[in-house]
Amino acid sequence: MSALARARVAVLGASQQDGPPGIEAIADTVDLAVPEGDGGLAGALEGADVLFAWRPDGAALSEAWGSAGSLKWIQSASAGVDSLMFPDLAASHVVLTNARGIYEEAMAEYVLGLMLVMSKGLRAVLERQGRAEWDHRQTERLERKRVLVVGTGPIGRTIARDCRALRMSVRGVARTAHPGDADLVEIFGVDRLTDAVATADYVVNTLPATEETRHLFDEEVFAAMSPSARFVNVGRGSTVDETALIAALRSGGIAGAGLDVFEEEPLPADSPLWAMPNVIVSPHMAGDAAGWREAAVELFVRNLERYLTGRPLLNVVDKTRGYVPS
Ligand code: OXD
Repeated sequence: MSALARARVAVLGASQQDGPPGIEAIADTVDLAVPEGDGGLAGALEGADVLFAWRPDGAALSEAWGSAGSLKWIQSASAGVDSLMFPDLAASHVVLTNARGIYEEAMAEYVLGLMLVMSKGLRAVLERQGRAEWDHRQTERLERKRVLVVGTGPIGRTIARDCRALRMSVRGVARTAHPGDADLVEIFGVDRLTDAVATADYVVNTLPATEETRHLFDEEVFAAMSPSARFVNVGRGSTVDETALIAALRSGGIAGAGLDVFEEEPLPADSPLWAMPNVIVSPHMAGDAAGWREAAVELFVRNLERYLTGRPLLNVVDKTRGYVPS
C-alpha cells in the first residue's frame, strides 16, 4: 500500500443518529477518524489529509483549524459552502470540493411542487377539505407562464429544464449576459436583474451566499416585479432582504412566495412569514430527497479514489467566488 493510500480522513459533523451511511468501508484504505460527540474534531484533524464535512460547520472547523496543518482537501456534503467557509480556510491552500450533482433533480422537483401548490391553490384545497367544504374554484395554468431562474449553474438549469417540460418559457440571470441556449431562451447579466424580473410570472432564486449576492433581492427588485408574480427561493436566505420581501408580500407588491431558505435558520418563531397566507415556508429541505445521504457518501468515495490516485478532484470550489464555476 502506498504512502498516499494511508491518508488520514476526518469527518466533521457526524452524530450517532445521523452520520454518513457506510463510511466505515473506507477504513480498509485510509485511517478514518470520526470524532465522538461534539468535541474531538481537533484530535481527529491532527495529521489528517482529508476532511469530509458531513455537516458544514465552519465555526467548529475554524476553532479546530490550528490542528489542521496537514489538511489538503475538504469535501462538503452540501452544494453551498457558505456555512463552511471562514477566512483562514479561504486564504489556505486547502482544496474545497462540493456536492454538485446530487441535489439538482430533487431541487427542481421541489420548485415545481411549490409552483403547483401556488398556481393550483392547493393550500386552500386542503384547508377546505379539513372543513368538509365543497367550494368549486378555478385554478391557474403553468403552461406559457414566464419563469426567470436567477443563477444558471446546474441547479438553475435543471429547474429550467423541468419548467420547460411543462411548456413554461424560461429566462435566466447569470453574472454576465449570454446568448440564449437550449435551457434558457435569454440570459441577462445580474446588472439587469431589475429589468429581468419585471416580465416574469415566477422568479426562482438559486444563488449561493457570497458577498456579491448579499441582499441582491432588495426593495427595488421586489418593486419591479409584477403584483401577480411569485418569488421562489431555494438558493440562500442571505441573498434576500427579508424585510423588503415581507413588505412586498404584505402590500400586494408581489402575489406570493415559496421559501425554503431564510436570512436566519431555523426561521424564528416570530417571523411574520410563518403566518402569511400567500407564503409557503419550508425548513431548507428542497434538495434533501430520500437517498441524498448515500449519494453524498458515494460522491465523497469517488473523489477520495481520485485523491488517492492523484487524479483531479471533481467539483473544486473557487474559494474567491464561493462556488464551483460552471
Ligand atoms: C446545499 C443545501 O447547499 O442543501 O446542499 O442547501
